[in-house]
Amino acid sequence: MEDTKPRVGVFASGAGSNLQALIDATIDGTLAAEIALVVSSKRKAYCTERAAAQGIETMVFKIKKHPSPEEAGDYLLTKLKEHRIDYIALAGYLSLLPAGVVQVFRDRIVNIHPALLPKYGGKGMYGRHVHEVVLASGDRESGPTVHLVDEIYDNGKVLEQAKIPVRSDDTPDTLAARVIEQEHKLYPRVIQKLINGEYALD
Ligand code: GRF
Repeated sequence: MEDTKPRVGVFASGAGSNLQALIDATIDGTLAAEIALVVSSKRKAYCTERAAAQGIETMVFKIKKHPSPEEAGDYLLTKLKEHRIDYIALAGYLSLLPAGVVQVFRDRIVNIHPALLPKYGGKGMYGRHVHEVVLASGDRESGPTVHLVDEIYDNGKVLEQAKIPVRSDDTPDTLAARVIEQEHKLYPRVIQKLINGEYALD
């Protein structure tokens, strides 16, 4: 029988622990989808090794290598079409997607962010810095947000968050470790719900 599972392209730039969580979820069945392509903005990123270890095709995409953002978008769309990608999951991807890709995949692109948006998002808000800012704010809770992606960093509709308490003795590293643990549980679950059509989209 033909495999009709939705095909997800994962965009990553770093360690790829969320990519791994998504791969694992497709294996254990919590995510009924196929990770069909991994797009990285860096050639030497551990995420591409994780993909290769699983036999998943990888490609490097650098918007600045293209003559214009429009051409970059067309190139990427061609690649996504070649791989018959239905959904895009950003997982630690450090660049904005070309607008043409956002338009074509609108409501089928998600991102995971390591804080409770709309707070602590936007350009430059990534990695350890996010947790430093959360701790400096005195907020009593943090946790990941999964949201739809539009043309602006961390701006699209929030689909779900997983709230955890911030402890008085937390450091950016201890908080980051507890947040990412939640990310790995939340992300596959939200993607499955999006695929199922369980979110009311505008
Ligand atoms: C995660 O904290 C995610 O929220 C953010 O980038 C980080 C990626 O980590 N968008 P990893 O590469 O998945 O380990």
